[in-house]
Order: sequence, then C-alpha cells, then structure tokens
Amino acid sequence: MRKLVIAISLLAFAGSAAYADPIKDRQALMKERGKLAGQLSKVVKGEEAFDAAAVLTALKALEANAEKFDAEKLFPAGSDKGDTTAAPKIWEDMPGFRAAGDKF
Ligand code: HEM
Repeated sequence: MRKLVIAISLLAFAGSAAYADPIKDRQALMKERGKLAGQLSKVVKGEEAFDAAAVLTALKALEANAEKFDAEKLFPAGSDKGDTTAAPKIWEDMPGFRAAGDKF
C-alpha cells in the first residue's frame, strides 16, 4: 500500500513537472524526433537493412512524439528568450504554428 502511494505521488509529480521548463521540454521532444527520423532515414537511404518490425516501432514512437506536441504549453509567452533557437515568428502567429504542428 505504501509503495502504491509513493508510486502514485511520483506519477503526479512527474505529471506536474512535465512543463516545468518549456524550452528544455520542447528541445527534448525535438531531440527524440531527430533520433527517430535519423533511424528511418538510414533505412530509406539503404544504409541499414529494412526490418518491417523495427520501422513500425520507430514510426509508432514518432507518432507518440508528435502527439506530445502542445504548441501553447511548449511555447508559452516569454519562452522566446533564453537558450532557444525558436524563431520569433512562432509567437507572431501561434495559430499558424499550431497548424504546422498538427499537420506534422
Ligand atoms: C521529423 C521532423 C522533425 C525533426 C527531425 C526535428 C528535429 C529538431 C531538432 C534536432 C531540433 C534541435 C533541438 C535542440 O535544440 O537540441 C529542433 C528544434 C526545433 N523544432 Fe523541430 N523537428 C521536426 C519537426 C518540427 C515541427 C513539425 C515543428 C513545428 C511545427 C518543429 C519546431 C521546432 C522548433 C520551434 C525548434 C526550436 C526549439 C527551441 O530551441 O526552443 N520541428 N527540431
């Protein structure tokens, strides 16, 4: 029971900390996206053998990564400053930026 309470508390904490630092969070999401796209591009270029199961796993991970993209939460006002390469244009047209994320 105690372990269960601790586990639930940890999960709640992890949930609340998910957007603690939006710049770090969006960069982590992009880094993972880059890694997955890199894996897939190796197969497309013929640098790695085609393994349907491995490709499906990478595609599913890419989809899960895309589902986590929440433009408003990851790009709140003020997060254009700091250790970021995000273009100021994002905040000039948030609906357009969100649409680009949704399209992806
Ligand atoms: C397969 C598609 C994509 C790949 C492989 C990718 C990869 C990356 C990588 C490697 C970074 C650098 C992260 C770092 O600083 O370490 C980055 C940054 C970024 N990406 Fe993507 N990305 C993809 C799609 C997208 C899409 C669809 C959007 C928006 C709709 C987007 C918006 C951004 C922004 C705004 C940054 C700068 C984040 C910051 O420094 O605050 N990316 N991406």
